[in-house]
Amino acid sequence: MKRRTLFALTGLAVLAGCGSPGAGSKGNTGLSFANRLTVPPLLAPTVTADGTKQFALTMRKGRTAILPGKPTATWGFNGAFLGPTVRAARGDRISMRVRNQLGEPSTVHWHGMRLPAAMDGGPHQVVAPGATWTPHWTIDQPAATSWYHPHLHGSTAMHVYRGLAGLFLIDDAETAALGLPSTYGVDDVPLILQDKVLDADGGLKEDPEPTWGLIGDQILVNGVHDPFFEVTTTSVRLRILNGSNARMYNVEFADRRRFAVIGTDAGLLAAPVSVDRVQLSPGERVEIVVEFAPREQVVLRSVGGDHGIDEGDHQLLKFIAAEQLRPGRPVPQRLATTPRVEAPADATQRRFRLSGSDEINGREMDMSRIDEVVPAGATEIWHVQNTVYAHNFHIHEVAFRILDIDGRQPPAYLQGPKDTVFVPEKSTVRLAVRFGHHTDPTTPYMYHCHILRHEDKGMMGQFVIVEPGTEASVPRTLSNHHQHG
Ligand code: C2O
Ligand code: CU
Ligand code: CU
Repeated sequence: MKRRTLFALTGLAVLAGCGSPGAGSKGNTGLSFANRLTVPPLLAPTVTADGTKQFALTMRKGRTAILPGKPTATWGFNGAFLGPTVRAARGDRISMRVRNQLGEPSTVHWHGMRLPAAMDGGPHQVVAPGATWTPHWTIDQPAATSWYHPHLHGSTAMHVYRGLAGLFLIDDAETAALGLPSTYGVDDVPLILQDKVLDADGGLKEDPEPTWGLIGDQILVNGVHDPFFEVTTTSVRLRILNGSNARMYNVEFADRRRFAVIGTDAGLLAAPVSVDRVQLSPGERVEIVVEFAPREQVVLRSVGGDHGIDEGDHQLLKFIAAEQLRPGRPVPQRLATTPRVEAPADATQRRFRLSGSDEINGREMDMSRIDEVVPAGATEIWHVQNTVYAHNFHIHEVAFRILDIDGRQPPAYLQGPKDTVFVPEKSTVRLAVRFGHHTDPTTPYMYHCHILRHEDKGMMGQFVIVEPGTEASVPRTLSNHHQHG
């Protein structure tokens, strides 16, 4: 097997790829694809007497062999690095047992999940060292690729960077009936993209670049450096998560083959969209289906762009197809039937101005201040105006649709259900945002830039969802909010 000779070269490739931290990182196209991609294990729930699926996640520290012979100090859920994949279906009652064995406070936020604010795992739901947090809710949203990660105010960036992140896959009956590739780890493969800066002895360097925070020059896929994946089917569904702190990816295959985008952050598109490249800013997900021929090999890569957070060309992963591939079904021409998010003609309009890197509408995040009060079930139009360099925007609890970017329609693959959007430099993005029905006037959800250093520095705001008609009487100051460490 060719991989043996490739393995001998890995050490060299690693040294060649280790650049200086920060913007201007030159990219990394010297991979040898020596390491088999691992896929995060599915987390088996315990099913309680009333049918609730109970999942146990323990945050802990560990060591991981990212580079050969140079163990890296990392953090993970249930293991040393990253976390297992949680999987549940629409209608499931689930409960989590989140234990914190980090020796310092953290939180676990379910990014993309529609649930009561007290279960959301944002900065107010601190899990003290040694404590166990037990949120529970009923899954009530369409099939999607979601994820989970810490959200401790001021510390999110480093907690995620050290390895606290995992996938949360939501299934539903409608999606299951489509015949999409769905054998986990075989033809339905999650790819968590994260960039790191590794020092000479394998340590994670955390020195932030001044504008963006952490932009690394080593891209790990599912925590694996220099990976390959053995393809055994003609069609493969990839669920790609940008789990990076700041880096944006422009993802394509080296031979520029086309592939079908079938879903984005908050669920499937109405119909597949054929493209040869997708852009993913931090926190965004995309589901694609790509076709392979027997014995072919092709590299997935990210090409450099000019947004400051997407510099440099980077190889990500090599696909190596087997001699014989199990044939798959073509992607159906109709996917989700969930109606798209439409705002009524008299929709409430709200404006959010991103300037600098630590404020929204001129104000830094304040855990005791409610910035916006939203009536349950509303669909509103949010204008996100960026007056400076690249940012993005994520809203908890919702699904939104991008109406336009500087007045122009987004590309077709970005017209589906989303919860996170790239906001290019000096541009305005308009979103039609559909809010849920879990009311709680004293526990806020967050909206923020998902460049994690910006979020940590205060480019974040808080909203509550309340009973329609009670907006005016909702207190704008939280008396009892949790202080964080
Ligand atoms: Cu991915 Cu506020 O989170
Ligand atoms: Cu979120
Ligand atoms: Cu930002």
